[in-house]
Amino acid sequence: MSLEINKIHLLDCLTAMQQLEDNSIDCIITSPPYNKKGLVRGTKKKELPALGKLIKEASEQETQSSNPELHGKKKTERYKYHEKGNAIWKNFDIDYSDYGDNMKEEDYHAWMITFLNECNRVIKSTGSIFFNHKPRRYKKQAHLPTDFIINSEPIIYQVIIWDRKNSPNIRNDVLVPCTERVYWLRKNEKKSKPNVYRNQLAKEFRGEVWKIIAKKQKNHPAPFPPQLVENCILLSTQPGDIVLDPFMGCGTTAIVADELNRNWLGFEIDADYIKSYYEEVGAREESDE
Ligand SMILES: C[S@@+](CC[C@H](N)C(=O)[O-])C[C@H]1O[C@@H](n2cnc3c(N)ncnc32)[C@H](O)[C@@H]1O
Repeated sequence: MSLEINKIHLLDCLTAMQQLEDNSIDCIITSPPYNKKGLVRGTKKKELPALGKLIKEASEQETQSSNPELHGKKKTERYKYHEKGNAIWKNFDIDYSDYGDNMKEEDYHAWMITFLNECNRVIKSTGSIFFNHKPRRYKKQAHLPTDFIINSEPIIYQVIIWDRKNSPNIRNDVLVPCTERVYWLRKNEKKSKPNVYRNQLAKEFRGEVWKIIAKKQKNHPAPFPPQLVENCILLSTQPGDIVLDPFMGCGTTAIVADELNRNWLGFEIDADYIKSYYEEVGAREESDE
């Protein structure tokens, strides 16, 4: 592998994944940005433009956003779709510090499909992809992640419900949403079958609903709860296996993988989140001494 492992690289996920070999990763655990503001900005019902065109545009944008010369420039110069400040989300203080999360919804679908296809390429035939997403609402309609997952290559192996117990109650005309999904995906290959070690999980997590409280974290607006990552790792890997998180955020996947003696690798475009990971690890090491 040309990229150093056990390290978070300041790289765009697609640019970085292109450097990974086919069938080289045992487990992917990840949560992409949900395009919260892009969806609210407008979902056009018109037919999707040709996928090839969208993917080309998306990858041109990615090349721009991964250009090191752009790091340090004003946020608005870095991301075409960076328009912070949608009133609803601002009220809840859950904006990313750098990333706009504001693509046209059809571009977002194309990006997610390209991303999932890359996951399918790099995952081993015995591997597992845990893709965390959730139903989002716009204009009296629930938009399901399966809208794009089913147009990508990996196969849905099982759907895990993450009961997070709390969620911002941003509207009063629906039941309060309190769950997300973890799509457990496998490689799209005839003989592919994930390694499954269900007995490594605590008994309370052997069913397909995981009750795990999502706690706020000072360094990131949407971190994984460590328990969720631990469950995915124990369910599908053995010590020494390699776990990838292409949207690493403040490094929860890295921290848990390390604790469980797995190798890991991650990508993140926001240098501050990577810094907060290394500070957290440094603080832990000092308290162990
Ligand atoms: C939902 S958060 C992931 C949080 C992570 N699971 C954690 O525990 O901290 C999504 C992350 O993707 C990052 N991101 C957005 N676009 C990216 C890209 N093209 N490549 C890599 N990371 C990206 C954002 O900066 C954000 O930190």
